[in-house]
Amino acid sequence: MIYSDKVMDHFNHPRNVGIIEDADGVGTVGNPVCGDIMKMYLKIDHGVITDVRFKTFGCGSAIATSSMATEIIKGKTIEEALTMTNAAVAEALDGLPPHKMHCSVLAEEAVKAALADYYTKRGEPVPPECSVE
Ligand code: FES
Ligand code: FES
Repeated sequence: MIYSDKVMDHFNHPRNVGIIEDADGVGTVGNPVCGDIMKMYLKIDHGVITDVRFKTFGCGSAIATSSMATEIIKGKTIEEALTMTNAAVAEALDGLPPHKMHCSVLAEEAVKAALADYYTKRGEPVPPECSVE
């Protein structure tokens, strides 16, 4: 089996799927190579991510990593969420096949794009940590 049990679990039973109508930040990112799209919605209260939902139109690894990313950042502060790397998400899933690591980049990007949107909506400068190298 090339996928870990955790990847299969999050693919078959993704956590926090859906949308948040009155989200404080929404991030939409796409992978130009494969065309997969991920949308992340955040509720933020006093700098803490109180709720998060996602919709991913993409491969199983993209779905599993977005699901895991929502679990990692829920209840965390913005600062903590901004330190979440795609490698950490893949690690939390007990790894991804090398050619699927790019799928996890989408999850990191979606979280950062949603946080950038949060700052923009508030009329505040977007911190540099919101951009993905
Ligand atoms: Fe087809 Fe991602 S490229 S599902
Ligand atoms: Fe496109 Fe996985 S193949 S994100």
